[in-house]
Amino acid sequence: MPTPHLSAEPGDFADTVLLPGDPLRARHIAERCFEDVQHVNAVRNALGFTGTYRGMPVSVLGTGMGIPSASIYTTELVTQYGAKRLVRVGSCGAVQPGLGLRSVILGVGACTDSNVNRVRYGGMDFAATADFGLLRTAVEAAEQRGVEVHLGNVHSSDLFYDPRDELVATMAGMGVLAVEMEAAGIYGVAAEHGARALTVLTVSDQLVTGERVSADDRQRTFDDMVDIALDGLLLDAGRPVAGG
Ligand code: HPA
Repeated sequence: MPTPHLSAEPGDFADTVLLPGDPLRARHIAERCFEDVQHVNAVRNALGFTGTYRGMPVSVLGTGMGIPSASIYTTELVTQYGAKRLVRVGSCGAVQPGLGLRSVILGVGACTDSNVNRVRYGGMDFAATADFGLLRTAVEAAEQRGVEVHLGNVHSSDLFYDPRDELVATMAGMGVLAVEMEAAGIYGVAAEHGARALTVLTVSDQLVTGERVSADDRQRTFDDMVDIALDGLLLDAGRPVAGG
């Protein structure tokens, strides 16, 4: 049954969903990577598509920006459409000086200044973590593609324009790799509803040096990251990554 935010019918979404923030990226992923593509959602322009990747049923849905928006879509995907594997693919700002532009990061855990997981967890601090199986196969997929990945904590921020100047140093001092805006919410939704989740990011902004990737580079590195995410999902499903 359609939900308040998704017009898709039962069965329209696969049990595996890629989650870019930008709906146009969702369309780009479907057009570039999927076969037998169906357009399954356009409510609020949160574009959603379902197809196959090397024979594996897979969907992609633009979540919009921030934990509240991503939480709405992922909750409905899991509770109403039976999604079991959620993989966020997005960009981030690196807070470690050694992390260059276009680096690929796997979010082992997600810190946050959002209250959502405290609400879920009786007011206490919940350790929002990726699913280990998805993490392991994403590492394997990256190795097979010869791409270096950085594993560690990310920070899911409520404010893109945060007035606290010291925040980057605070994160870096605790070993956090990068800041983005959704992972902790998606991990919380997955924990609450028994789904598995992972976050794969590319560094678009170096917050220590102030460097940013160009629009062209942003697209190319985004594509590389999506390929790793999809190959990792194939491996997790016990399917070969080469030759289909
Ligand atoms: N902050 C939060 N999210 C981001 C950033 C950032 O600097 N860059 C890309 N996503």
